Amino acid sequence: MSKFIITGGKRLSGEIEVMGAKNAALKILAASILSDKKMIVTNVPNIEEINRLLELMEAIGTEVHREGSTLTLQTKEIATTELDPTLVSKIRASVLLVGPLLIRSGEVRMPHPGGCAIGQRPIDLFIEGYKKLGAEIKEDNDGYTFKCKKFKGMTYIFPKISVTVTEALMMAATMAEGTTVLKNAACEPEIQVLAEYLNRVGAKIEGAGTNTIKIEGVKELTADTYEVIPDRIEAGSFAILGALIGDDIKIVNCRPDHLESLWAMFDRMGIDYQLGKDWVQVFGGVKIKAVDVQTHEYPGFVTDLQQPFTVLLTQADGMSLVHETIFEGRLFYTDMLKMMGANIIMCDPHRVIVNGPTKLYGRRLTSPDLRAGFAMVLAGLVAEGTTEIDNIYQIDRGYSQIEKRLQKLGAEIKRVVD
Ligand code: EPU
Repeated sequence: MSKFIITGGKRLSGEIEVMGAKNAALKILAASILSDKKMIVTNVPNIEEINRLLELMEAIGTEVHREGSTLTLQTKEIATTELDPTLVSKIRASVLLVGPLLIRSGEVRMPHPGGCAIGQRPIDLFIEGYKKLGAEIKEDNDGYTFKCKKFKGMTYIFPKISVTVTEALMMAATMAEGTTVLKNAACEPEIQVLAEYLNRVGAKIEGAGTNTIKIEGVKELTADTYEVIPDRIEAGSFAILGALIGDDIKIVNCRPDHLESLWAMFDRMGIDYQLGKDWVQVFGGVKIKAVDVQTHEYPGFVTDLQQPFTVLLTQADGMSLVHETIFEGRLFYTDMLKMMGANIIMCDPHRVIVNGPTKLYGRRLTSPDLRAGFAMVLAGLVAEGTTEIDNIYQIDRGYSQIEKRLQKLGAEIKRVVD
């Protein structure tokens, strides 16, 4: 087991590069199975979550070739329609394979998927959506069996906005008979770029990026080259790092236009920053004001930045309310910030009050999940003394070689293998 050891309190400066977006790459890799043609995907982050999905795809017959951040994928034939239970238990995005596999082979067997421990994470909307597209689904103790000869167009009104369900149904509907309309759909940038790619290879999708998406089914799709967009969560996390302990940090290879709600917060807090087309520069060292934040679907404040942002609020002047509306288990990591000296009161599982600024002190911590894990890293860099974080597999799931990139900014962080 590896852990991070961080000596906090050092001010950072320099340039840090953003990798390709995990949550865009996962979907595009799954979409490659819609066709038997060769697809080339560039700017793919080398992270555990992607590697697990690739293992799952290789098991079902995808040929995968990796050269740096470029992947070549081709699924000439489906070798098995049974998804590996061990791999599925590690990655929730497995459920994205169901649509493409049903299109290719008419049957899929999938155990209940895993993923970050941030709430119950049910898959009821996937099930409902695939059923509306015409799939027959049986559930038993070990998982689900899906059967469907040909998806049929339908109208689905989301009872709750869901990113991955929007993507999964959009993908499945590309080759359905007739037209599918998804209403109250999610609008995240990752959905827009997935639709752009699918249209390029022959799909007929309109409205992705708005809450109504119309998909006219086509007979077949081909494949093409796709460049994964920069990860907006990484970019936002690094900007928060800059506001916390940066003198002058420039975040490059990013899309600031995907993070408008974060910049609006920075404005309210009095943080000094500059935006370019593909870069952001943050000048720390200024006194920052407390602000209330409520997570929301895009373009609202993204739930994946709530954890680093809460660390920032521990250093802001005044009282802030953090309201996590998307997941029911995504604030428990604040106990660890309290152990470090933060003044945080949990009102209920969805809301905490943060009183700042407070000095933080190095502690031994465990990374509970991906984003909270990065929040622990941030807190460790701010804190006085040494912080030890274990279970860093959780951080590696989404941030590639994070310690090396932070070291370039002057951070004292090292990976220790026990
Ligand atoms: N939900 C259901 N039933 C379902 C599916 C979702 O009730 O069948 C609920 C969820 O429990 C949650 C809400 O709907 O309360 C919204 O969840 P959503 O489905 O939008 O989340 P997701 O698609 O599973 C993606 C990202 C998450 C990110 C959320 C919200 C991927 C692979 N994951 O998850 O990313 O937090 O959208 O933006 O795209 C991360 O990167 O650390 C991460 C967790």
